Amino acid sequence: MAEVPVNPARRRFLTGSAVAVGAVGVGFAAVPFLSSFEPSAKAQAAGAPVDVAVSQLAPGQMVTVAWRGQPIYVVHRTDKMVEMLPSLDGELLDPNSKVASQQPPFADNFYRARKKEFLVLIGVCTHLGCAPTYRPEVAPKDLGPEWKGGFFCPCHGSKFDLAGRVFKGVPAPLNLVVPEYAFVNDGLIRVGVAEIRA
Ligand code: FES
Repeated sequence: MAEVPVNPARRRFLTGSAVAVGAVGVGFAAVPFLSSFEPSAKAQAAGAPVDVAVSQLAPGQMVTVAWRGQPIYVVHRTDKMVEMLPSLDGELLDPNSKVASQQPPFADNFYRARKKEFLVLIGVCTHLGCAPTYRPEVAPKDLGPEWKGGFFCPCHGSKFDLAGRVFKGVPAPLNLVVPEYAFVNDGLIRVGVAEIRA
């Protein structure tokens, strides 16, 4: 589970988030964002980091946590999901994550992630801010035979792949944002920090 390489040329996205270290919450296994999940409303408002336990997250599953009042999606991608990503490049608006505002430098890689099996995104559509739904199934009836899994925004139909990259021809203009995060260990992700300090 080694971290994937970083492109050092890409400028930093967020600089102010590596603040108070300390877990303030844990993830929960649920696909939709549950606004009632508030590990600490005060801490969230202050932007404190949130820990997401992923050791029990089965391949293909997603958990959602709240951070800074936003849903954070954490997906444990299967090998198949990862292998499929390059096949979509021609259908995407920004397949190589050229827009630096949409991910920190560590996610400036093919998977938009620190580790290819774990995808971490802010679950806010880049069109008008709805929460895209996680649709991992292949070729579901409502999304058509070409659908290989991803995120679908129910508000105006924007589509994103399993790296949060936006498809061409939809209202959303940008890829979903990858937040700052780091691995505390193989089974724990801390959202809201750029690195884990001893
Ligand atoms: S808010 Fe997602 S498509 Fe409009």
